[in-house]
Amino acid sequence: APGAQKFIPPRADTLDDLRAAAAGCRGCELHRDASQTVFGRGDAGARVVFVGEQPGDLEDQKGLPFVGPAGRLLRRAVDDARLDPGHIYLTNAVKHFRFELRGRRRIHQTPDRVHVTACRPWLVAEFAQLRPEIVVVLGATAAKALLGPTFRVTRQRGELLPWPESAQHPEDFRRVPVDSADGVADAPPARLLATIHPSAVLRADDQDKAYEGLVADLTVAARALA
Ligand code: URA
Ligand code: SF4
Repeated sequence: APGAQKFIPPRADTLDDLRAAAAGCRGCELHRDASQTVFGRGDAGARVVFVGEQPGDLEDQKGLPFVGPAGRLLRRAVDDARLDPGHIYLTNAVKHFRFELRGRRRIHQTPDRVHVTACRPWLVAEFAQLRPEIVVVLGATAAKALLGPTFRVTRQRGELLPWPESAQHPEDFRRVPVDSADGVADAPPARLLATIHPSAVLRADDQDKAYEGLVADLTVAARALA
């Protein structure tokens, strides 16, 4: 089957090992047109991991996630929610930029389920290294990757949810807590918290209200860690 799994080094000890291997991933077609793999970045000891959709145009050029306007807004929301910005890690459900060319412009296209599924092993590998306490799921694409196709962000946002275990959820996530860290399975699995994507705040009719909603959801995570 296609997908990222065969590109993951069996003995990756660090996030840097994973990042280096991900640079050569050809687990789906998206590597062909994008400039480079955009892997996660942040504190290796992060208690909170944010999962977005995919890199945008600027992220594709710089090779770093969340360096554009959505990233700026997200960092402001992290501050306003009183999360520690030094102890977070930012990544995406899909690690190559998917776009459509219109003239010279590269227009963002939402990744399909095949891309999300193909790329999920990188996310699983990142979680296995990071062992976060809370995974913040930003928007519908990340929610589908982590919580299954029937999850609705609008209905279940801002709630701390248990790590996915029911049949509806992606099978591979169940392995994360036991597969990692030299077989040590004592760390409790992370909890998930879904919220809207920062780009959705930027597109909202009432941006202030949408932003307040994002901060309110992130505050739930901040309180849970306090
Ligand atoms: N939007 C995302 O989902 N991820 C990024 O890295 C940038 C914008
Ligand atoms: Fe690999 Fe993910 Fe890029 Fe597809 S999007 S080539 S699975 S890193």
